[in-house]
Formats: sequence, C-alpha cells, structure tokens
Amino acid sequence: MVGGVEEHLTVGRVAELAGVSVRTLHHYDEIGLVRPSARTAAGYRAYAAGDVERLREVLAYRRLGFGLREIADLVDDPATDAVAHLHRLRGLLLQQRDRAAAMVTAIDTELTAREKGIRMTSEDQLKVFGAQLYEVIGSAYPATRRTEPRIAARVWEALGDARTVLNVGAGTGSYEPPDRDVTAVEPSAVMRALRPAGAAPCVAARAESLPFEDQSFDAAMAFSTVHHWHDPIAGLREMRRVARHVVVFTHDASDTGWRHRFWLTRDYLPEVAGLVVGRPSVDRLARTIGARMEPVLIPWDCADGFFEAYWRRPEGYLEEHVRRAVSVWARVGPEAEQRAVDGLRDDLSSGRWAERNRDLVDLDAAELGLRLLVA
Ligand SMILES: C[S@@+](CC[C@H](N)C(=O)[O-])C[C@H]1O[C@@H](n2cnc3c(N)ncnc32)[C@H](O)[C@@H]1O
Repeated sequence: MVGGVEEHLTVGRVAELAGVSVRTLHHYDEIGLVRPSARTAAGYRAYAAGDVERLREVLAYRRLGFGLREIADLVDDPATDAVAHLHRLRGLLLQQRDRAAAMVTAIDTELTAREKGIRMTSEDQLKVFGAQLYEVIGSAYPATRRTEPRIAARVWEALGDARTVLNVGAGTGSYEPPDRDVTAVEPSAVMRALRPAGAAPCVAARAESLPFEDQSFDAAMAFSTVHHWHDPIAGLREMRRVARHVVVFTHDASDTGWRHRFWLTRDYLPEVAGLVVGRPSVDRLARTIGARMEPVLIPWDCADGFFEAYWRRPEGYLEEHVRRAVSVWARVGPEAEQRAVDGLRDDLSSGRWAERNRDLVDLDAAELGLRLLVA
C-alpha cells in the first residue's frame, strides 16, 4: 500500500489486475455501476482509488452470485461504509465456504451410498444444494456430543443467580441448566429436531439478529458456537442487548499457541490454521461484551466429544463417528481428513505418537486454548 500521490489506473490495467474483461468494465461504466472518475496524464479516463474500492465490492458481490441491480442497491446504500461492506462480504464468503464444505460432505455421503449400491432419494439428492453445515453434519452430532459435567459446572456457576437464560446456538440442548427457565435459539432445523423431548423451547433464529426485546433475559449463554457465526461481534452485541449477563464458552481462534501445543493440529491437521484466519481473537470477543476471561482445562476423559476432547485418547480420532460429530473435519475437507487419519493410525501403531507425546500420559487435564468469557 502506498501513500502520497494518488494512483490512477487505466481500464486495461484494472481489467488485468482484477481478472475481468475490459468489456465487463465498460458495461459497468455504461450502466453507471462503476465509473472511472479520473483522467490519466494523456487524457484517458482512469480509475481513482475510490472507483477501485467500489469495483472491488461489485466484483465480490458478483462472485457471490448477486445480480447487477441488487449490487447497485448494496454499494449505494448510504448507511454502509467501506468497513461495514467488508464485514458483510466476509460473512457472505464464510457462509459460502461452509456451504461448499457441506456440499462436499453431502456428495461424499452419496458416493459412499452408491458404492454400496444404495440410491439416494430425489429429495436427499436435492438437499445437497440447500446444504448448510449443520443440516448435513447435524444428524451425527448426538453420537458423541453431550454435556461434560465438569465444564457445565463452570458455565452454570458463571450464570450466577440468573433465573431466565437464553441459550444461543443451542444445538441439541447440551449445557442447558436444568434448574432455570431456558429459551433456546438455533438456526438449523436438523439440530432443532434432535433436541430431546422435554428440552427447553427453541426459536429458529441466528445470533446476529435475536428476535427479543432489549434486556428480556437475566443471562444469555453460547457454548461452542461463536466460531460458526458469520459475524461473531454482531452476535455478541445482540446477546448483550437482550440479557444482563453473558457467558460464552469458546476457543482462542487467534492464539497460535494452542495449535502448536495440540498434537492433532500440529502434527496431523495444520489445515485448521486456515479455518481461523481472520476470526476475531478471544480478547476482542471479550472486549465486545466487557467480559473477564477464564481458561477452561479439558479433562482427559471429557464426556463431550468436541474437537480437542480426545487429546489423551488419540484412538478416538480414528473413529468415523467421533469425527462426523465435529465440524472441523467437514471444513478441512475429505483429503486432509484422510491424510491426517492415516498418519495418526501409522504413528499409533509404530509407537511414534506415544514417543512424541510422552508427557501427556500423566496429565489429567490439558490447557488447549478453551476460554469462558463472563460478563
Ligand atoms: C458445535 S454446535 C454447539 C451446539 C451446542 N451449543 C452444544 O454445545 O452442543 C454449533 C451450533 O451453532 C449453530 N449456529 C451456526 N451458526 C449460527 C448463528 N449464526 N447463530 C446461532 N447459532 C448458530 C449451529 O447450527 C450448531 O447447532
């Protein structure tokens, strides 16, 4: 990035840099979507910095599949500045990435079914296109995902004397305190359908836009879900708006320390680093809600099968049903998953894993970057 003299780019140069045709740029100019507002020294029309910024937004929305008319409304929205646009685009792109991961998983399921000579129903085939991550992986969730009592005790203590509690990104209802008046929020229909009979009532909504009045709950909690939200900061602000206290259990996305400490990401699945790029740090999340932060150690025999849960039981990761209940495996994709599992299997049978991770055997609990934010 350079300061000082403003650079003007010719239409040819812009086309080359952005990977679009000159014809496309002329068309955007003709319909008034992006007009080159400057002139080169030789008098040719050229793109000033502001034009390029606008073009970048247009092209990003285009790539996301928006129509030109819709894009014009989006980029001309006076209430949206450049930073807000970038946040919106980022959220949309993450949504698209999760959808692609969900589609890959759905297609793999169909391929496996075909190998076994099973034909999927037309309905199931079509579902691939509407796939949201938890719509595809949700049904595998209850196999290993449940309340871990020692971690639940920490969450429930942090809820203090709250009588009414909103559980955001509630999934199948794990960690919902049994002795309070709980309302759940969960966007995935598959997850909602898996809530046990008698679980707290559940509303279909997203954290980023909670359908409740200001301060309508004593406390709002979010367990192991913030990393799925397209806009975690907006979601946390919403929790703060609707509740007096906020309790969040999450991992530190920005801290590379835990990824190096945890042998699974360090030695077998480095792709996890790519999943957390650009996610807000746990400090930023805490600042957003004015929370204090407490580390949460993972017991060696953790009852909830989340990603890090099997740190002292490595054979767990060789189990298909363990992996299917954790979104990370769907998000890194089948190739990385296969490579990681094969590598781990080899190292377990050759004794290399035990050799490398000798120090873990005596630990009863591990610090792997999980945090409780309490506000
Ligand atoms: C790992 S699960 C955790 C579920 C539950 N809290 C638990 O601990 O078992 C993550 C959940 O977040 C939900 N989710 C995804 N995006 C969300 C959003 N924008 N707002 C609220 N929940 C969301 C998913 O549908 C999924 O049920």
